[in-house]
Amino acid sequence: MIQIKVFSLFLISLFALSQFSLPESKAALGERLFFDPILSRDSTISCGSCHKPDFAFADTVAISPGVMGRLGRRNAPSVMNMADRNAFFYDGRAKTIFDQIHFPIEDPAEMDLPYEEAIARLVDHEYYNRAFNHIYQEIPNAKNIADAIAAYESTLETANTEFDAWMTNQRNAMSAAAIRGREIFMSDRAKCFNCHFGPDFTDDDFKNIGLYDERTYTDKGRYDVTKKSSDLGKFKVPGLRNVAVTAPYMHDGSFKTLREVIDYYSDPYIVVPNPINIDSDLRKPLNLTEQEKRDLEAFLRSLTDRRFYKFN
Ligand code: HEC
Ligand code: HEC
Repeated sequence: MIQIKVFSLFLISLFALSQFSLPESKAALGERLFFDPILSRDSTISCGSCHKPDFAFADTVAISPGVMGRLGRRNAPSVMNMADRNAFFYDGRAKTIFDQIHFPIEDPAEMDLPYEEAIARLVDHEYYNRAFNHIYQEIPNAKNIADAIAAYESTLETANTEFDAWMTNQRNAMSAAAIRGREIFMSDRAKCFNCHFGPDFTDDDFKNIGLYDERTYTDKGRYDVTKKSSDLGKFKVPGLRNVAVTAPYMHDGSFKTLREVIDYYSDPYIVVPNPINIDSDLRKPLNLTEQEKRDLEAFLRSLTDRRFYKFN
């Protein structure tokens, strides 16, 4: 009996230790912050509430609820493969991964906490105060909080896919359909590669694919930042790694499946009859065949990292 008691005391103290053991790296500290609701006004919402690890750190609903069930206007995108990006958010309002951190914390529809208050909370928090001193040799401040979360985000790179295996000459890694889909993706016929190119399938630029008509589609996108009329309806070209597990799609989450996205590209005018400022690449409907659509989808599915196969 006494032995059991001693053993359970031992277990309890082990548990207590693991709760308070100090992080070993900036990224480990950032990971803890990413999943801690302490950065939201009523301590109910963390970054991970909307950027869900199982779905490549995107959300499965079109618009994610923030504090007190408030809804913003855009779909929560994947925050994986961010290390090489040069603009953040659909309108590019943040230029660096560090500058991006305070936006969701302060956004009234997301975490609704002034950044100064977030800093004060961490300074007053026994664990975080010690953890920041341990990693940065200073108390939590605007810079090191952003630095820690950015360090965690930078670890979320994915390249363990059928496509990457195929590119390193494992010629049976991709299905025949996915290989045909890749050809179509890069061809002058489908033009996907004109915008979705590079290792993460984005040119890191802002483009208008027709989802802006001032009636049903009213999000002005990049224009909100630059106020240039040529930027009306332009959105950051999203990377396409793990896209099979990040539905729904587009800035407003209005397309539920990859097939809906591909149908849209085939003929945007069925969904938006009078788009404003649509990119010249998409001005004429592509009219893809059924076979081309399936092959394109097979290619997009070959970009899923193996860790997400069970959700693919
Ligand atoms: C209530 C849901 C919600 C919460 C909480 C949230 N986000 Fe987001 N996140 C979004 C939405 C929606 C967008 C797209 C906003 C836009 O483009 O204007 C986004 C965009 C981003 C982006 C830009 C991705 C890209 O491709 O440009 C990053 C990075 C990011 N969030 C990180 C975070 C971090 C870090 C936290 C916690 C401090 C956080 N988010 C909390 C919903 C959320
Ligand atoms: C003119 C540039 C351009 C071309 C050409 C283009 N795209 Fe896109 N793509 C974008 C932009 C910009 C978005 C984001 C639009 C938005 O959110 O409203 C996007 C979004 C997507 C998405 C949704 C990603 C997500 O996470 O929501 C997929 C999938 C996609 N494109 C695949 C393709 C395929 C397949 C093709 C070729 C048939 C293609 N794209 C051609 C610019 C382009």
